[in-house]
Amino acid sequence: MLQRALQIVEDEGLHVAIIMDGNGRWAERRGLPRVAGHRAGGEAVRRVVEAAPDFGITTLTLYAFSSDNWRRPSREVWALLRLLHRYLRAETEKCVKHGVRVNFVGRRDRLPPPLRAEIEQAEAVTAGGRSLSLRIAVDYGARDAILRAAEKLRGEAAGEVTRERFAALLGEAINDCLPARDVDLLIRTGGEQRLSDFLLWESAYAELLFTAKMWPDFDREDLAATIGEFRARERRFGSLTQLVAG
Ligand code: FPP
Repeated sequence: MLQRALQIVEDEGLHVAIIMDGNGRWAERRGLPRVAGHRAGGEAVRRVVEAAPDFGITTLTLYAFSSDNWRRPSREVWALLRLLHRYLRAETEKCVKHGVRVNFVGRRDRLPPPLRAEIEQAEAVTAGGRSLSLRIAVDYGARDAILRAAEKLRGEAAGEVTRERFAALLGEAINDCLPARDVDLLIRTGGEQRLSDFLLWESAYAELLFTAKMWPDFDREDLAATIGEFRARERRFGSLTQLVAG
């Protein structure tokens, strides 16, 4: 069973999730407005998406806007949402060309309708992408997602309560087209060491990697280094080394 789980992980490629922290500090250190940091963060997103398939990553989940980020000053909130809208407009064609499937995960009902329309369009035209599944978490919070999935489960008349069923409902709860997938490696930039309500169910056995680098400075070499460190770690999934290896 464990061997099979590991085999599936290998066959599927890696699921890497990133908490892209440090945009604001990056900008403030340069005497720039925080929004400039988010813009530079958008460039880092382009670099990492381009590099990801070269490192065996088949699913990449990026935390772009948490449900708690609505508490930021409205200028910053709208600048971030505008940035996401522009990113989609500028990158969708490239994603189609490079086989990148784009999905937004999180709530949609609080997003501005034009952004929602752009998201739906990007998801539709990139749906056939097979080289990378790029999931952008927007208005996302893991605890609320888990609650919504639990609510769905409660509404089901019959059926067994299994992890697989719950993962399927969790996928639905965040508007994903697939069941929730376990995270292999979770990276957080910016020096803080916490999960900030990101992919709590999916990260049960994720390797956690924290780096002091600010997100706008993160590049292909940093991704290579983090993947190298991940590969050097021993994953036991609660078992013993010799059993996992055997
Ligand atoms: C955290 O840094 C970062 C965010 C809240 C936004 C992340 C968004 C991007 C990288 C922009 C574009 C995204 C895509 C997918 C195109 P922070 O502002 O909390 O930084 P700080 O801790 O230094 O203040």
